[in-house]
Amino acid sequence: MANRIPQSFIDELIARVDIVEVIDERVPLKKAGRDHVACCPFHTEKTPSFSVSPSKQFYYCFGCGAHGTALGFLMDYAHLEFLDAVQELADRTGMVVPREGGGDLGSQSETAELHEILREASVFYRRQLREHPQGETAVRYLQTRGMSGEIAAQFHLGYAPPGWDNLVRALGGSQRTARLLTKSGLAIDKGGERLYDRFRNRVVFPIRDRRGRVVAFGARALGDETPKYLNSPETPVFHKGRELYGLFEARGANRSLRRLFVVEGYMDVVSLAHAGISNAVATLGTAATADQMTRAFRTTAEVVFCFDGDEAGRRAAWRAAQTLLPLLRDGWLASFMFLPEGEDPDTVVRARGAEGFNAEAERAVSLSDFLFQHLGEQENLDTLDGRARLIELARPLLGKLNARAFQNLAIARLSEITGLSAPELARLVVEEDRAPRPRAPRRAPQRRGNPSLIRKVITLLLYRPDLASLIEGTGRLASLEVPGAVLLTELLDFARSNPSVTLGATVEHFRSHPEGRHLAKLAGETSPTLAEGLEREFTDAIKRLEEMVDSQRFDQLTRKARAGGLTDEEEREFRRLLEPAAASTSPPSGASSPGRQ
Ligand code: UTP
Ligand code: MN
Repeated sequence: MANRIPQSFIDELIARVDIVEVIDERVPLKKAGRDHVACCPFHTEKTPSFSVSPSKQFYYCFGCGAHGTALGFLMDYAHLEFLDAVQELADRTGMVVPREGGGDLGSQSETAELHEILREASVFYRRQLREHPQGETAVRYLQTRGMSGEIAAQFHLGYAPPGWDNLVRALGGSQRTARLLTKSGLAIDKGGERLYDRFRNRVVFPIRDRRGRVVAFGARALGDETPKYLNSPETPVFHKGRELYGLFEARGANRSLRRLFVVEGYMDVVSLAHAGISNAVATLGTAATADQMTRAFRTTAEVVFCFDGDEAGRRAAWRAAQTLLPLLRDGWLASFMFLPEGEDPDTVVRARGAEGFNAEAERAVSLSDFLFQHLGEQENLDTLDGRARLIELARPLLGKLNARAFQNLAIARLSEITGLSAPELARLVVEEDRAPRPRAPRRAPQRRGNPSLIRKVITLLLYRPDLASLIEGTGRLASLEVPGAVLLTELLDFARSNPSVTLGATVEHFRSHPEGRHLAKLAGETSPTLAEGLEREFTDAIKRLEEMVDSQRFDQLTRKARAGGLTDEEEREFRRLLEPAAASTSPPSGASSPGRQ
């Protein structure tokens, strides 16, 4: 995507900014030893367990587990979007935010041009609602749906008149305009001489981004024509999985948004606003995506997902819960409301007013209740078997959670339901979350309960990136078949080229890495004593990992030999693995199955 901020800039930014300053402005900190502490802003407490480390450039709460970098803090505490948080930090350090492909002025100005043509189109549609001879039919349609002129004005509703090319003609015929009209999705190029308007004889709903720029339109037929709604296609300025219809308007109408309702339709948002519920947003004809959820929670702490009460609605709710679980952060409050069958928010407020809708909202169920209700639906919880199955079903879901406080609460709830103690459940969940334990190399069985070797090496690297230079390359480790191996090799490379990088910057660097969340977790949980002899500890651990690679390879070749035979190359490798090498890396003894730890 154009406009992405290069990772190297984020690395540099985190290195330059002082997390203590950033946080202290918002949550006054007290110095305590080498760190700074405060009562945690992410949960309620009386004694300070929130600690900010200038050397790590990282904050961590020992009470609730909240953690992150200066960038993460601005996003989680100040509810800034990623780009805004980057901008704020850049402003403090006097750095200029570059954009990938930023040298390409062409694409920069094209984005601006697309925004401009979309804005002009929106002005045109609004004017047609008032002035076009048939605008009256659209106004009447909106009236039959209970809308007022004020609400239409607030949402910039408009009218695309009937006819093939009203908009195209109104906005002008230059080559440049034609290109922008098609690229923005406003017009369709059927290959002939002329362009055609995409939206005809419909009420249009401009979709505005968080800065209020029109990025797309949704358009409703006035009668029973199909499709009922027509939407702009994906364009360089519109990705429907990222926008929430009505978010800009909701922010404008509320000084602070205590909560947001996420509903399905354009009409629902507008109709709710008309009834005085100005904090609803809609996904754009799809299930809520992770991006949309994150965006919603960056705006507010509480999100109520609103679904139909029918089977389809429950399925959609379950899908939303699945999307949400791994994203959830402590402090995010999610609940699910189910409207009576056949109703949507629009019909509810029109029949029963804001009170009716709020009464439905009162009955929303919390995310954890919804989880266990749904999972328990098929089970008879009066039986031991049923409860055991519920635990099995819940385990993988709870294991996905990064929100520690929420995870604990959910575990407590599950404990109430099943009667199994919370600590025991927690153990089951954590086991689920951890990487399945690597098969221990035969000669160096791991003791149970030890953090795995990989975790250890990763932790060492987080605190002492310079250690990476002690070993050459990562070639062999890359073939290690245990979870975390990929992250480890990438971390080794990163640390080797950034030997003095702070822990915070490393965590930030891996933010969008599929396994990045594990880094953030380790960074929060651990604080190894950086004693003498760390180098030795590190190289020993790496050596043991390499032994694991050999051992896995040996198993593989053994299986292959039994199954059908080895190529000459493999045969040589197999022999090499069998040869007694250096004392510390002597080969696995015998071809039997490995010992268990
Ligand atoms: P619904 O079919 O539930 O319609 O679509 P609605 O919002 O209740 O519409 P009204 O009340 O009849 O006007 C919900 C959402 O799904 C998308 C739109 O975003 C719509 O708001 N949708 C629906 C489409 O994109 N195309 C369609 O043809 C229908
Ligand atoms: Mn509807």
